[in-house]
Amino acid sequence: MKTLRTISELRAAIAPHRLDGKRIGLVPTMGYLHAGHASLIERAASECDLVITTVFVNPLQFAATEDLASYPRDEQGDADTASAAGADLFFLPSLDEMYPLGRDGVLTSVSVSDLSSVMEGASRPTHFAGMCTVVAKLFNIAGPCTAYFGKKDFQQLAIVKAMVRDLSFEVDVIGCGIRREADGLAMSSRNVYLTPEQRTAAPVLFAALCAAAQALSGGETSAEILRATMTDVINTQTLGQVEYLEIVDPITLGAVAQADLHSRFFGAVRFGSVRLIDNLDLTELDLTGLDLTGLDLTGLDPDASQPSAGA
Ligand code: PAJ
Repeated sequence: MKTLRTISELRAAIAPHRLDGKRIGLVPTMGYLHAGHASLIERAASECDLVITTVFVNPLQFAATEDLASYPRDEQGDADTASAAGADLFFLPSLDEMYPLGRDGVLTSVSVSDLSSVMEGASRPTHFAGMCTVVAKLFNIAGPCTAYFGKKDFQQLAIVKAMVRDLSFEVDVIGCGIRREADGLAMSSRNVYLTPEQRTAAPVLFAALCAAAQALSGGETSAEILRATMTDVINTQTLGQVEYLEIVDPITLGAVAQADLHSRFFGAVRFGSVRLIDNLDLTELDLTGLDLTGLDLTGLDPDASQPSAGA
């Protein structure tokens, strides 16, 4: 795997492959790579001839109050993970390389309306425009045939797909499944900042989503009742504060009053300064191999309290 730090070096490294008609895959990340990121790179390596992994902690998508300065970084660890997962090119641009006039010198912004104002967008109003702007820039730099994004950030995936459709980027956007720890917690670069007590409590978010999905699969369609089911599960612990728990249409991301088989469950819970997000639909309920037995779900409706069929 070759490490490249400038846009011109990366373009020069990709050019001969493009001329040869090779399939170019892109996996954009902000680094501190874990098995979730690696699964995207592995998928890209299985479908593409040339896989580019990018690591850039994009200041445009962080608000002034957010964790840009403390975002975890590990360049060597990331290189090792990307290489082991099958990346061919590892693009690590500096802030100056991406934004030569600095963050405030970036005058262009790509924003996708509607999808960006709900859930994550409600509490992070500038986040998705900053994200879309850097993803558009990375698409322009690398010119990928296929780009891989995780469903862990399902709203981000939906917004990137809308941007690609609206602006006619010649890129196939592939959504990849969520990688989880053994207790169900979705892998995230930010998990490293959880205290041991918060880490023990954190799988409650996944358990809440599972409980609601399970209740839906049992025939309960009232979003109000399903939301209450999620809240009850979250309230089995005291360390995490709910930011939102939603049941939405997977295409419009609009909240539904009556859930159906396509509905998707979303949640954001804050553990101290660490904000965790997760989401789930019925197709992801049967997550065999997860050990959720450590979660205390006593006192709940037994039909709603089994977080995962087969777990
Ligand atoms: P980052 O949070 O580093 O995530 C990079 C990619 O990895 C995203 O597509 C994300 O959905 C995926 N990912 C993260 N955790 C995952 C998990 N547990 N299972 C599967 N996939 C997972 O998302 C970003 O960076 C940035 O917003 C970016 C798109 C790079 C733009 O700056």
